[in-house]
Amino acid sequence: AVNRPLIAGNWKMNGVRANLAEIDALVAGIAGADCDVAICPPATLISEAAGRAGDSGLMIGGQDCHTAANGAHTGDTAAEMIADAGGKLVIVGHSERRADHGEGDALVRAKAEAGWRAGLLVILCVGETEAHRRADQTLDVLSQQLAGSVPDGATADKLVVAYEPVWAIGTGLTPSNDDIQAAHAHIRGELVARLGPEAAGIRLLYGGSVKPGNASEILPLPDVDGALVGGASLKAADFLGIIAAAG
Ligand code: G3H
Repeated sequence: AVNRPLIAGNWKMNGVRANLAEIDALVAGIAGADCDVAICPPATLISEAAGRAGDSGLMIGGQDCHTAANGAHTGDTAAEMIADAGGKLVIVGHSERRADHGEGDALVRAKAEAGWRAGLLVILCVGETEAHRRADQTLDVLSQQLAGSVPDGATADKLVVAYEPVWAIGTGLTPSNDDIQAAHAHIRGELVARLGPEAAGIRLLYGGSVKPGNASEILPLPDVDGALVGGASLKAADFLGIIAAAG
């Protein structure tokens, strides 16, 4: 890792109040961890999770936000509401949002700006589909997504980019270590070319079937600054295994 690692968990649409015991276990387990740690639970749990995390260093965040601060948007959540609930970060542009809700790069960019407006750290997701990969378009797709969705003014204290190959999410499949490193080096190069040398400090997370068993191979790759973890973030014991591999 070039930068201080961040291990972020995305619970997706999983978890009810009973699962907050996992937050308690994480709070106990991360004391002394040599990386930053975050969990993005469903919106219904952000407030209580943040309360339980307290000043332990465990950051709680949202999985998505609307572009507006408030208004007639039934079912949506404003970035300001995530912050008000105790959230410190928000994920935008996850491939499940892009696929399930038709979110494109321009909307993802506006959501990132909304996250910043509310003072949140933004984790912005990019990644190729299986079809892109087969057509050897991975790096081109990443360039297009970054150009369209990363706002001007992105800095290391406001933005984290997660590289998540869509075909690796929840499948147990991962790219080779060489392919992960190549994608991350490409992303870092694109950010520096557009934003300047300080953009090398923007952390790049790998996401897609990260488990305790493969984290020790993926996390030490030179341009990997952490992980965005789905399934293996649901149980504190698994997630702590990944955190240990980052230290
Ligand atoms: O946001 C997390 C990713 O989509 C990865 O999910 O670890 O279950 O493959 P996964």
